Amino acid sequence: MLPEGVDGLVGCYPRLERPNLRVNFIASADGAVSVDGLSAGLQGPGDKEVFDTLRMVCDGLIVAAGTVRAENYDALRLTEGGRAWRVARGLTEFPLMVIVSGSLDLDPEQLIFADAPIRPIVLTYRAAPASPIREVAEVIALGEREVDLAAGVRLLHERGATQLLCEGGPGLLGAMIAADLVDELCLTVAPLLAGGQAGRIAHGPPAPPRRMSLRHALTREDMLFLRYGRAEPTEDRATPPGDR
Ligand SMILES: NC(=O)c1ccc[n+]([C@@H]2O[C@H](COP(=O)([O-])OP(=O)(O)OC[C@H]3O[C@@H](n4cnc5c(N)ncnc54)[C@H](OP(=O)(O)O)[C@@H]3O)[C@@H](O)[C@H]2O)c1
Repeated sequence: MLPEGVDGLVGCYPRLERPNLRVNFIASADGAVSVDGLSAGLQGPGDKEVFDTLRMVCDGLIVAAGTVRAENYDALRLTEGGRAWRVARGLTEFPLMVIVSGSLDLDPEQLIFADAPIRPIVLTYRAAPASPIREVAEVIALGEREVDLAAGVRLLHERGATQLLCEGGPGLLGAMIAADLVDELCLTVAPLLAGGQAGRIAHGPPAPPRRMSLRHALTREDMLFLRYGRAEPTEDRATPPGDR
């Protein structure tokens, strides 16, 4: 059962001693990442608590421009209790907000920028066009024609943000899988058959399959909360292709 209350939830989704890039997604039982283009239609008991807990414990939240636009992202402000939890543990009051965009086609008046408690970072590439977003965010160019995500993660580590949370979307997750940056996947499965044309949680360039290890499988009502971590070499019992 998914625990009730902050302490129990933090116990299930702890900060780690080592740098960690944790990804959080929700999908339907048939694998859809959205209903009518948004993730809201997938929500159910417990997932908001998990979503808020993962934000509360991270140093930096990474989200891609497609999701910022589609979901009309707000500023990362946390609840009063969440901010107090962080300050009591010597963390900054708010995590860093980090947006990945090549086009820089982002609206400076969107609340993610206009209401931001600390100046967000936008990771882009060197060929990115001029954009008014440069006035409301720290724009950092990494890579020539696509954002060098590994360099972005290194830069965040250098700034002290080692516990990273990525909220997607699928294009960013696909690029992160291809760059082998994902240490952990928190996947909520909603009891829903969505059908239709919705994509899955990752799409991107081809990448070799990577084995993950199940850290927990918890439920609340009909919702399923899976947490996978990167398999240690000793856990890597993947069946050789010829033996499948
Ligand atoms: N169910 C869930 O948990 C969940 C979570 C998140 C999103 N979603 C859904 O997913 C959909 C949006 O996903 P999406 O795949 O279309 O978009 P996305 O992954 O959110 O964003 C893709 C955009 O991110 C930027 N980007 C990502 N990786 C990059 C790289 N390596 N180099 C340069 N730019 C990079 C580009 O921005 P520019 O276009 O600015 O260049 C690209 O167009 C929405 O329907 C949303 O509701 C669902």
